Amino acid sequence: MISRIGLYFSSKYSTMLSLENAKKLAASKAVDLHVNCGDLIGIGSGSTVVYAVERLSERVKADNLRVKCVPTSFQARQLIVKHNLPLTDLEIDRELDVCIDGADEVDCNLNLIKGGGGCLLQEKIVASCSKKLIIIADYSKNSKKLGDQYKKGIPIEVVPMAYAPISNKIQKAFGGVLDLRMAVKKAGPVVTDNGNFILDWREYNQDSDWDKVNTTLLSIPGVVETGLFINMASKAYFGMEDGSVKIQA
Ligand code: 5RP
Repeated sequence: MISRIGLYFSSKYSTMLSLENAKKLAASKAVDLHVNCGDLIGIGSGSTVVYAVERLSERVKADNLRVKCVPTSFQARQLIVKHNLPLTDLEIDRELDVCIDGADEVDCNLNLIKGGGGCLLQEKIVASCSKKLIIIADYSKNSKKLGDQYKKGIPIEVVPMAYAPISNKIQKAFGGVLDLRMAVKKAGPVVTDNGNFILDWREYNQDSDWDKVNTTLLSIPGVVETGLFINMASKAYFGMEDGSVKIQA
């Protein structure tokens, strides 16, 4: 069973860390502690994962580390290729040693909101095929209750032709507001790597039983996946303002 404790490692930094440096700190620590030679690694999506891949690439060059990487998005695939890391996929490698990914929010029970970048479906699939899901984030992502920090809403990936009735059904069952995610300058809906749309669900009840909510959402025809990652993460590493890394397990 996973114990719910927070440990702190102190480090050399004494001034307040920027969000970017906090991401980098968390990413490097997680890669150093969780990646071993020969590992098959799921590579998450988003800006924090960029630092994890940079650290992986450094270790491949410096320590002759051998790894193979499974991307969770087109963006992650490009990142892996850019750093000359070996690519594989779930058809060839069906069980991964570790998946390293970011999050939009992490609560005190290690439940997550993910999908701010629209990659939730493949992120959840790859995480589900990994022995452990390690989350890397800056201090702004750490919260007591889901919804305390991330105000853009819980992302829900849906089949395009069903987005309107799905919005109604969720609103009727749980309340809140559902926005169809639009591309910049409202050029049309955001289309995911899997050809689907995303609904961002805001103003929900923060005291919900998230496991039940997730199961109910997934039972609505046309809902492909949700950005609720419940009981999936093994550990989260947060780069903190004071230069320490908080580990939540
Ligand atoms: C993408 C995700 C990302 O992991 C999440 O949005 C965090 O991204 P960032 O590291 O840029 O803050 O779920 O779908």
